[in-house]
Amino acid sequence: MGETQVYYFDNAATSWPKPEAVYRAVDRALRTGGSPGRSGHQRTLAAERQLYEAREKVASFFGVSKPSSLIFTLNATDALNMAIKGLLKKGDHVLTTPCEYNSVARPLNAMARDGLITVTEIPCTGQGTLDVTGLSSLFLPHTALVIATHASNVTGQLMPVEELGAAARARQVPFLLDAAQTAGVYPLSLKTLQADMVVFSGHKGPLGPQGVGGLILEEGLALRPWREGGTGSRSHEVLQPQVMPDYLEAGTMNMPGIAGLQAGIDYIESVGLDSIRFHEVRLASKLREGLKKIPGTRVYGPADPEEGVAVVSFTLDGLDCGDVGFILEEVHGILCRTGLHCAPGAHRCLGTFPQGTVRLSPGFSTTEEDVDYLLEAVAEIAFEAGLG
Ligand code: ALA
Repeated sequence: MGETQVYYFDNAATSWPKPEAVYRAVDRALRTGGSPGRSGHQRTLAAERQLYEAREKVASFFGVSKPSSLIFTLNATDALNMAIKGLLKKGDHVLTTPCEYNSVARPLNAMARDGLITVTEIPCTGQGTLDVTGLSSLFLPHTALVIATHASNVTGQLMPVEELGAAARARQVPFLLDAAQTAGVYPLSLKTLQADMVVFSGHKGPLGPQGVGGLILEEGLALRPWREGGTGSRSHEVLQPQVMPDYLEAGTMNMPGIAGLQAGIDYIESVGLDSIRFHEVRLASKLREGLKKIPGTRVYGPADPEEGVAVVSFTLDGLDCGDVGFILEEVHGILCRTGLHCAPGAHRCLGTFPQGTVRLSPGFSTTEEDVDYLLEAVAEIAFEAGLG
């Protein structure tokens, strides 16, 4: 029996479907086997070559000249923990935003609770972006890190990260950019952003499988390792070898994940990131404009789709967003994410806490017809609820 057709609008959580080449690359890596750096037989050597090529490819995609500056991680959360816990020490102050995902907010909150650090949030606006007018006054003599998301995972809003990067650089404070929602779908120039560390997720925009992400690290920035263990190198040393990327990459590498990520990036390069961006902006714009015409909807996020990535959040007056998501799936086969999206602070800024929103995130394979279908479904739900 074939699977019922689904309309997938949850690419901000994880992109789907993946390009065929990604499925093939994962399958090939699993069948080939071999664990880089462990033993010296032919399978291991082949895996080592694959890892090297993947690192070069991914690094060059993000404009990083030195491949060893790219650390493969389990996901963006792992990379953020690696950066935050590896850099901060007792007494440090951190400047961040209220729109962060829980992978930033929770580690910071826990360290603050334990009396290790203090945290200041840059004020947000009711539109879900940042008010950077008083930014200078928020830096303290002991500010040791600035952390910001590149784009909100709730509204898609691109944040003024160039300004944050420049302000941090002027004070020689490291800047950690969470590019989980922009990597692979929005051009990332590390130079313009003046970021010292960039975190990305492999399974969203870059179209790889789950279980892979990365941390790009400015050369010379010293982190304590978040994980320690076997690296396949300098096994006689009693401490983690100080050579990159081994220093931060303890444990068996996720070769199927990394091979899939490499294939995802190959696909993006063959299609062109600009055309993916163009397509997604057009869909987000159509979604936003269409939703606004439906009685009873409130649409959140940037008025100009060019100021965001393809993520659109909305609510229907008087309806629980979980119920709306349920009807979208059960009646119409539409998959999306509802609620707080692991970013409660962003919802507080928007005034949608604690009920949350219905979030729609089209991807590279979403069509205009899919968006038309979705808009008809939302209009039907609004009509049935007596809105308008
Ligand atoms: N960060 C992912 C989301 O927003 C998981 O859904």
